[in-house]
Amino acid sequence: TDLSKIRNFSIIAHIDHGKSTLADRLIQRTGGLTDREMTHGQMLDNMEIEQERGITIKAQTVRLDWKAADGDTYTLNLMDTPGHVDFAYEVSRSLAACEGALLVVDAAQGVEAQTLANVYQSIEHDHEIVPVINKIDLPAAEPERVREEIEEIIGLDASEAVLASAKSGIGIDEILQAIVDKIPAPKGDRDAPLKAMLVDSWYDPYLGVVILVRVIEGVLKKGQNIRFMAAGTQHLVDRVGCFTPKRIELPELAAGEIGFITAQIKEVAQTAVGDTITDVKRPTAEALPGFKEVQPVVFCGLFPVDAAEFEKLRDSLYKLRLNDASFSFEMETSAALGFGFRCGFLGLLHLEIIQERLTREYDLDLITTAPSVVYKIHLSHTKNEDAKDIDLHNPADMPDPNRIVSIEEPWIAATIYTPDEYLGAILKLCQDRRGIQKELTYVGHGASTRAQLKYELPLNEVVFDFYDRLKSISKGYASFDYEQIGTREGDLVKMSILVNEEPVDALSMIVHRGTAEQRGRGMCERLKELIPRHMFKVPIQAAIGGKVIARETIAALRKDVTAKCYGGDATRKRKLLEKQKKGKARMREYGSVSIPQEAFIAALRMG
Ligand code: GTP
Repeated sequence: TDLSKIRNFSIIAHIDHGKSTLADRLIQRTGGLTDREMTHGQMLDNMEIEQERGITIKAQTVRLDWKAADGDTYTLNLMDTPGHVDFAYEVSRSLAACEGALLVVDAAQGVEAQTLANVYQSIEHDHEIVPVINKIDLPAAEPERVREEIEEIIGLDASEAVLASAKSGIGIDEILQAIVDKIPAPKGDRDAPLKAMLVDSWYDPYLGVVILVRVIEGVLKKGQNIRFMAAGTQHLVDRVGCFTPKRIELPELAAGEIGFITAQIKEVAQTAVGDTITDVKRPTAEALPGFKEVQPVVFCGLFPVDAAEFEKLRDSLYKLRLNDASFSFEMETSAALGFGFRCGFLGLLHLEIIQERLTREYDLDLITTAPSVVYKIHLSHTKNEDAKDIDLHNPADMPDPNRIVSIEEPWIAATIYTPDEYLGAILKLCQDRRGIQKELTYVGHGASTRAQLKYELPLNEVVFDFYDRLKSISKGYASFDYEQIGTREGDLVKMSILVNEEPVDALSMIVHRGTAEQRGRGMCERLKELIPRHMFKVPIQAAIGGKVIARETIAALRKDVTAKCYGGDATRKRKLLEKQKKGKARMREYGSVSIPQEAFIAALRMG
């Protein structure tokens, strides 16, 4: 193939600005699919959840053929990128596989936090960026204002931005022509030793693991012995091809091209995104720079509501992991919740997606413990052991406080955009969450002015319902993005919850000393509502070490109330007894207090 006739590009956009709709239009216009095939909608988002939530999780690529104004046919490789912060590394790899990007901005909404984060990444990769102002069909569209915003906030020349409506099909040919005219053709020597980037991989029940690659130099062919340089493994290529979006097999993929290979790989865990693929016999001298193994940053416990479903949960986790190497799990036992798994995720959205898939696709009823981040704990030496550092994933494993020298927690740099009217409430939220304000500026003009806030925040405070709060206090108008900026020492303690003097492991959490009392009080108050009364008084306490910081008491039942329960006719009594028997299985005893599982679920749900 003639490299000058290839264009590799991705689409970057804030969530809901129309990326998937535009991708569909481009596929339709270039004839990749018939109208009937198109009616399934949003071809690039092929998982059910992606469709329902409109979030793109796994990157995919489509090869489009387009006859440009010069009469030549060009091969346009459209690479889909995930739009959410949790998948930042995947975004970065897909961008690294392209020479340019379409920047899609909603003509009514303007530039948002994720537009910015992704566009900066794109600029870092030296991309040529083609701005597209989408949704110009909307009555609220203000393309001229958005054009100014793109120039003012991002610093891109938007004078030639394409005005489009992905929905009504306006501006589609102009976008295709702009891709050919503005985005540079790929470079690369097909005679050099093979060097290809592993951009993405997913599990296909028929093909096994499918790997998306960008060939930088050399050629990839069926029958070739290849090596993954970071993983150090070898495989035999048994298929080479591309998607149009239908799967098509090709004789080869050469320098500058994007496509897929299969190599009889069983699990995506063997295929690290960002790895360099080379030829075993004639390897490249140097691997691609910037390889990074993704590490889970948010952890929580997942337990089956019904203990009998433990095996089913384990099988389901194995199956999900086939397709998602970025989430991890290991067995965990809890006195309160029984057998379950400690799971690691890239972020809160990732957690929610996995949880939802388990519930929906695998029909499991689950309890999720409060999400926690990874703490670095420095321990002093003891008689038997040297000083050492540990990574703490689970508050229940907190070491003896006397041995703790210091604790570090992960921090993030957050960017928030909000209309002015919600600014006060958002500043307070960030303040309450131990945020450090770095910048407060205004962007835009007149009625469309918005505040741009930059904060540094402990991730611990963000995983704890920050995003939901932000959305609710701004009525959905604020947008939020973040990146991790390393760990910092913090005054952190483990807060335990005691019911009738007994600690309840599933409810313990790591908190900042300054906010411990408030959190503890909240938890005690909720539990008081949730735990049924007993024949005696039940104290509920939040404690740090041996010190109680908050307390509530559940009053004892009055005698005559119970008496009533035992009255009535025989059938009613029997039914009641049966119900109790069922309920028993789901009760956990604390001292002589029984806590129904629903109480845990409710307490955890509210954080
Ligand atoms: P994520 O996958 O969540 O990143 O969203 P997205 O950017 O892919 O947005 P998507 O294509 O799913 O579009 C979001 C919503 O905007 C959908 O309801 C679309 O129907 C609508 N939409 C997309 N393009 C247009 C347009 O040109 N005009 C109008 N009026 N609506 C549009």
